[in-house]
Amino acid sequence: MKILILGLPGSGKTTQIDSLSEKYGFVPIRMGNILREIAGQGGETGDKIKSIMASGELVDDGTVAKLIKEEAIKTDDNFVMEGYPRTVKQIELFDPGFDKVFYLEVPIEVVKDRMKGRGRADDSDGAIEKRVQVQMEDMEHILDYYKNVLVKVDGTLPIEEVFKTIEDNLR
Ligand code: AP5
Repeated sequence: MKILILGLPGSGKTTQIDSLSEKYGFVPIRMGNILREIAGQGGETGDKIKSIMASGELVDDGTVAKLIKEEAIKTDDNFVMEGYPRTVKQIELFDPGFDKVFYLEVPIEVVKDRMKGRGRADDSDGAIEKRVQVQMEDMEHILDYYKNVLVKVDGTLPIEEVFKTIEDNLR
């Protein structure tokens, strides 16, 4: 099964992916983690990605589409993904053909508060603002593109309840 978790930064995508992969054995594919790993290796590419991530801007569409495709084909179509696609262009470059797409709905003010409490390297006030802004730009188009397999979930509920709603919709 090919599952996508969509939502603004801080909406709880990682939290839910960890539970889904632990309980059901889906391979977790996190775009942000793949990029953080490359950034950590340094060099020209790593340093460039690191500075883009620190600013809250998006890494270029061609690079992320290529990286995610390489990961997706290793999984035998049994994965739960987050962080891709983030633009319409990325869907055009590589659409994994998801069986289910979950959108975690959380108000902007709530996601900002959650991220401030988390303390990740790219969780500075400026980067949070930018991340939320750029990731909202194509969200409506992405939701519309996946409308036939889309389930909207109230992401403000407690973590266990969000997970239960996702589980119930997997069957
Ligand atoms: P990425 O690492 O993907 O970050 P993000 O989308 O900003 O998502 P986060 O990891 O911040 O949030 P999350 O939704 O996973 O929430 P979490 O579970 O941690 O991307 C980082 C950067 O990489 C981007 O800015 C960009 O530069 C680049 N990038 C990535 N993908 C790209 C792409 N496709 N194209 C181009 N560039 C790309 O939860 C947040 C907090 O809330 C936690 O503390 C958690 O405990 C808490 N929480 C979770 N659920 C609940 C709940 N139900 N109730 C209360 N608290 C909760």
